[in-house]
Amino acid sequence: MQVAVLPSQEQIANVGARRFIGILGRNPQAVIGLATGSSPLGIYQALIRAYRAGEVSFRQAQAFCLDEYVGLPADHPEAYQNFIRREFTDQVDFDPQAVHAPAGDSSDPVAAAREYDAQIGAAGPVALQILGIGSDGHIGFNEPGGALTSRTHLGFLTEQTRSDNARFFAGDINQVPVACLTQGLGTIMEAEELLLVATGAGKAQAVRELVEGPVSARWPATVIQAHPRAVILLDEEAASLLSDKDHYRNAWDGFVKYECPDYDWS
Ligand code: F6R
Repeated sequence: MQVAVLPSQEQIANVGARRFIGILGRNPQAVIGLATGSSPLGIYQALIRAYRAGEVSFRQAQAFCLDEYVGLPADHPEAYQNFIRREFTDQVDFDPQAVHAPAGDSSDPVAAAREYDAQIGAAGPVALQILGIGSDGHIGFNEPGGALTSRTHLGFLTEQTRSDNARFFAGDINQVPVACLTQGLGTIMEAEELLLVATGAGKAQAVRELVEGPVSARWPATVIQAHPRAVILLDEEAASLLSDKDHYRNAWDGFVKYECPDYDWS
């Protein structure tokens, strides 16, 4: 796991965007994994700017979203398939047919989860999966207590997550769905590379568990410790409870210098 503590949101966005641009430059048909929520927005905006500047194209790429609410009407603005199109994929040259999300409006969500997992398996591997982290340690919508090897499944949100996400629903927790479809931890771990973004003090405890805690179902993101290529991008607030920050800074400098000398990390 490479941990980068970066001084500004702009740098986090640029570093994240560079990872996508590098991968799509080498393989324009790459399959990429997208997260919704606030954390990746800076990266998506940086990618939209790079697309407008002619530095990247998504024309031949495919995208799979991590998760989706169950029970929202298909045209609800906060349904993740609408969020991702509005905030990112419709603003670049993605083929709309190549942007996939779990069918949260299916009458059989269990079957829909199985089908989505098979679809990812057939198209994959996912070259780069972007992730946020919940304040309770979830990735995707894998809430505490689930199997660390789970596949895409029907899940249920904690009160903490529903309360965190109420800001997208006019501050009303009762409007936040209880159920969701999410790629499982086992599905997510099959991506060739993971890029997790966390900012703000509200994520500090989850980040401490992710980076320095024991692997446990209580903090699902800790499964990432077993991934061979995972990059964690943090701001100072999200990193504030880490005890080994100096070491991570040295290791990150070495990673950038020796493993990724071609990237513009600024
Ligand atoms: C969203 C997702 C979630 C979010 C997490 C953090 O597709 O998979 O795991 O990444 O809930 O959300 P934000 O970024 O809004 O703090």
